[in-house]
Amino acid sequence: MTVRTDWQAWHEPYADANSPLSRRLRLVQQHIASWLDERSEERLTVVSACAGQGHDLIGVLAARPDARRLRVTLLEYDAGNVATARAAADRAGLSHLVIRQADAGQLSSYAGAVPADLVLMVGVFGNISDADVERSVAALPQFCAAGATVIWTRARRTPDLTPAVRRWLRDAAFVEEAFHAPDDARFSVGVHRFAGTPRPLDATGTLFTFLR
Ligand SMILES: C[S@@+](CC[C@H](N)C(=O)[O-])C[C@H]1O[C@@H](n2cnc3c(N)ncnc32)[C@H](O)[C@@H]1O
Repeated sequence: MTVRTDWQAWHEPYADANSPLSRRLRLVQQHIASWLDERSEERLTVVSACAGQGHDLIGVLAARPDARRLRVTLLEYDAGNVATARAAADRAGLSHLVIRQADAGQLSSYAGAVPADLVLMVGVFGNISDADVERSVAALPQFCAAGATVIWTRARRTPDLTPAVRRWLRDAAFVEEAFHAPDDARFSVGVHRFAGTPRPLDATGTLFTFLR
């Protein structure tokens, strides 16, 4: 019998600032904030796949007077997490964030949300098959505007898939800007910039299916 993950309870370690999940969150948030500092455009587009309760983006944007520069779409399947993210965004004065209950494994879910200047694949690659990770990485040029940044995470449980993920990203014309893999934790956080030519979204087909 497959035991399905309770994806609302999954977020509970964020309440402990010392948990590995909170450490990972801080790294992701630092990179979101740096990306925002480096981009001076008046309009920027952000998409987050499997966004959960949106702690990363909402946490950063809540403190940013320039948050209105961003057109943000969060894609999240779990209705409870969507509701929690919506409430957090509204509390933070971020009512312009689009939070869609959608299957981020379906390319059709990205219609209207991409091309994006920042793509978050946070908490995705550890929950899908290796083949689905490879397929998703190969599809990223469909989500990316020219010069876009992708922030991604993957646990380094054995066998560590991150060398392959980094190679697949290189093959898809991404340049690595950062890769955090702390010795005392299993998570990793990667930051890659898209140096290739954006591809139009082909909004048909499946990229990935969650395994748990
Ligand atoms: C590991 S959590 C990561 C959440 C968030 N990105 C974070 O790091 O805090 C994975 C999230 O993906 C959601 N999810 C699972 N399958 C999904 C799908 N097919 N499409 C969109 N979201 C999905 C779960 O409900 C869960 O909130």
